Amino acid sequence: MTNLETSYLGLKLKNPIIVGSCGLTGNLESIKRIVVHEPGAIVLKSLFEEQINADINKNILQNTELSAEAETYISSHIAHKNISDYLTLIKECKKITDIPIIASIHCTDVDEWISYAKKIESAGADALEVNASILPFDEKLQSTEIEEQYFHLLEQLREHVSLPIALKMSYYSSSLTHFLQKLSWTGHVQGFVLFNRFYNPDINIQTQEIGVSNIFSSAQEYTLPLRWVAICSAKIETDVCASTGIHNADTIIKMILAGANATQIVSCVYQQGPEIISNIKKSMIAWMKTHQYKSINDFYGKLSASKETHILFERNQFMKYYGSVE
Ligand SMILES: Cc1cc2nc3c(=O)[nH]c(=O)nc-3n(C[C@H](O)[C@H](O)[C@H](O)COP(=O)(O)O)c2cc1C
Repeated sequence: MTNLETSYLGLKLKNPIIVGSCGLTGNLESIKRIVVHEPGAIVLKSLFEEQINADINKNILQNTELSAEAETYISSHIAHKNISDYLTLIKECKKITDIPIIASIHCTDVDEWISYAKKIESAGADALEVNASILPFDEKLQSTEIEEQYFHLLEQLREHVSLPIALKMSYYSSSLTHFLQKLSWTGHVQGFVLFNRFYNPDINIQTQEIGVSNIFSSAQEYTLPLRWVAICSAKIETDVCASTGIHNADTIIKMILAGANATQIVSCVYQQGPEIISNIKKSMIAWMKTHQYKSINDFYGKLSASKETHILFERNQFMKYYGSVE
């Protein structure tokens, strides 16, 4: 029998297909439609501290005659409601499925990170994905100062919660492999998600205005994470989860060959519906049968950046490749 089981963050997954954090994983009805197709795990939509603060500000701004006392009351009521809705979602998910539920948070204040994480652990989430990507736009911040923020955050989280932690990473890092290796040595983090896909601005040359680029990834974007999955999985003990541009079974197989313990899909679920999870599983099994692999372990990491292959992933100027294009 062909077996798709894998392990990620110490959790046993029935298959390596995780539905990543997005609007589709932000409400129970939509999650029910996903669960029918049995992904390996689900990452809930992030609980954003900034969003909660924006809701609070909007409500307070709408009512200019509020006393300071009323403002405090409304603020704490809105914050409490947002968080309690999130905790209810975790509990409801745990009731309807035994598929691992990974909560996701993004905060700006370390105390809030800790407070949210503790509540999420008590609500029964199986793991926590830390959506902490810091965009290095500030010319006054040195890379070591940015890195220090990650170390501090993970240290604080680990001190207060014991559930497995995955760090959803940004690819903007001056020495990514060294940085991830140092983070993994702390033992505070059990997995790295490579990578988060940011909101990206774009420019309309007709109106000459700044707008938004594509919300969804394209099926070609996977090559960037593929390179780093191959490099990091060869050099770092911590689990690696591939994310961005994964739209089909072929790409998931490539990621596993490169050394991913699991993979996340989002855009393709929006575009093709949750049925894509079942279709990917069927295609993966067909490929494994053709190549006589009985389990994921049989081909996991076969093409990671090992001693023999590392040059193919570490090279960025490939004369043979560019030289053949005239
Ligand atoms: C509509 C939408 C909402 C998203 N919301 C979140 C979120 O709340 N938290 C998060 O960490 N990532 C969020 N993401 C990013 C995805 O989790 C994922 O990292 C990104 O879409 C790349 O994966 P893909 O190429 O499979 O789409 C969102 C993506 C989309 C398209």
